[in-house]
Amino acid sequence: MDAISEAANLGIEETLDPPDWADVQALSHRVVDDAVGYLRDVRERPVWQEMPAEVRAFFTEPLPHSPAPLTDVYGEVARNVMAYPMGNIHPRFWAWYMGSSNFTGALGDFLAAIQGSNLGGGNHAAGLMDSQVVNWCKEMMGFPASAGGTLVSGGSMANIIGLTVARNTKAGIDVREHGVAAIPKPLRFYASDQIHSCHRKAMEALGLGNRALRRIPTDAAMRIDIAALRAAIAEDRAAGFKPACVIGTAGTVNTGAIDDLQALATVATDEDLWFHVDGCIGALIAIAPQNASLVTGIEQAHSIALDPHKWLHAPFEAGCALVRNAEMHRNSFAVTPEYLESTPRGLASGQWLHDYGLQTSRGFRALKVWMALKEHGVDKFGRLIDQNIAQGRYLASLIEAEPALELTAPTTINIVCFRHRGDGLSGERRKNINTEIMLRLQEEGIAAVSDTTVHGQHCLRVAITNHRTRRDDLELLVREAVRLGNEIEDVTRTV
Ligand SMILES: Cc1ncc(COP(=O)(O)O)c(C=O)c1O
Repeated sequence: MDAISEAANLGIEETLDPPDWADVQALSHRVVDDAVGYLRDVRERPVWQEMPAEVRAFFTEPLPHSPAPLTDVYGEVARNVMAYPMGNIHPRFWAWYMGSSNFTGALGDFLAAIQGSNLGGGNHAAGLMDSQVVNWCKEMMGFPASAGGTLVSGGSMANIIGLTVARNTKAGIDVREHGVAAIPKPLRFYASDQIHSCHRKAMEALGLGNRALRRIPTDAAMRIDIAALRAAIAEDRAAGFKPACVIGTAGTVNTGAIDDLQALATVATDEDLWFHVDGCIGALIAIAPQNASLVTGIEQAHSIALDPHKWLHAPFEAGCALVRNAEMHRNSFAVTPEYLESTPRGLASGQWLHDYGLQTSRGFRALKVWMALKEHGVDKFGRLIDQNIAQGRYLASLIEAEPALELTAPTTINIVCFRHRGDGLSGERRKNINTEIMLRLQEEGIAAVSDTTVHGQHCLRVAITNHRTRRDDLELLVREAVRLGNEIEDVTRTV
């Protein structure tokens, strides 16, 4: 009989708590020391590196049945996981679009896990803090204190929350009870052709289907064409559809373009549409003193999706959905089964936060956002957003001054699209050169950038949502992109 079965036979109950807290304490101190060093020295490490075969093999190990000392477990994590990050905390990570995290936020996540509260709701401090952070988000957006809101996993979920309320409010029937098949006239949603892919997923999940989201052409600045939007709405009405919602984007994922939100608010009023703003990238520009006017009109939205894990640099995950009319918000999600009924006093006398979204159990996301906002103050986050936007414009100016490179889209905020010219080469060969520049920048650990296609042109894309980036990092990027481009081009022309 093994020791565990023997203990069970003797009636000794087991727990996950350590037999000796002093051991755990010593290891925890080491973990924190390593973590501090990890962030302090991040600039000295490559942005990203490929994992060797033995590290990949580590992740195919089978389910463990027997125990291992925690120090060994941590050693494996340090060697195989911490050493091979995605890289988005590095000062030269500018791929896709994500924040660069912060140490205080990480402490917040640790403490949230130590307290272990479930933010489905209830009468406890974490619940009040969750609501407080939502209230702070309303304040940052210029939304009334009476608005509804909820913290969610990220921007994709925040958009689904807003679009669900839009669908339910505009359907003309009780969709929750009768389903989308009972909607008398098919609903139509509108957004620019630069809309993020999560909206397609939302339309599919909402049972409306991808085709119910009409993509409206964009102008030279990559903003939704308002005249084309009005024409599409008129066409749909005449064809028997019900125009229900217009989605404005404050910061498109391709180029950072910001739709004319005031004009969209007017269209929504004129046409009786729900006005949702996907502000995952740019909503928080509202707190940046030098650039806040770029998102004027956002405060008129019926719902907003914003993403604290981008420009508030909260460790993943933290998104936020705000709905101007709190009752409409609650009416779209609240269900009260008998096992979740409120009581007049005690633990179940607090607000049920799960009434504002799809999750029942929810993590304590608010703490990491709250601690970082308290430590630095919201004004500093605003200045950091201005700093990234200024860095975007600086990078654009460096590219304009470099004959081997060219900008491929206007730079509105912190996203810069450019390419190596590859003069005289076909579009396909130019794309190959630029793709190769991107891959070598990553593989040599210099910088992480991504690529995209804007109005038919392939290009590299730099998104500076990074409080560690300095101007000399951007100068290095330009030098290295030119060096790599010339090297690759020489080989390309000789084959
Ligand atoms: C404009 C836009 N909307 C939505 C999203 C999705 O956000 P998340 O990745 O937090 O789900 C993104 C992500 O970058 C985005 O750029």
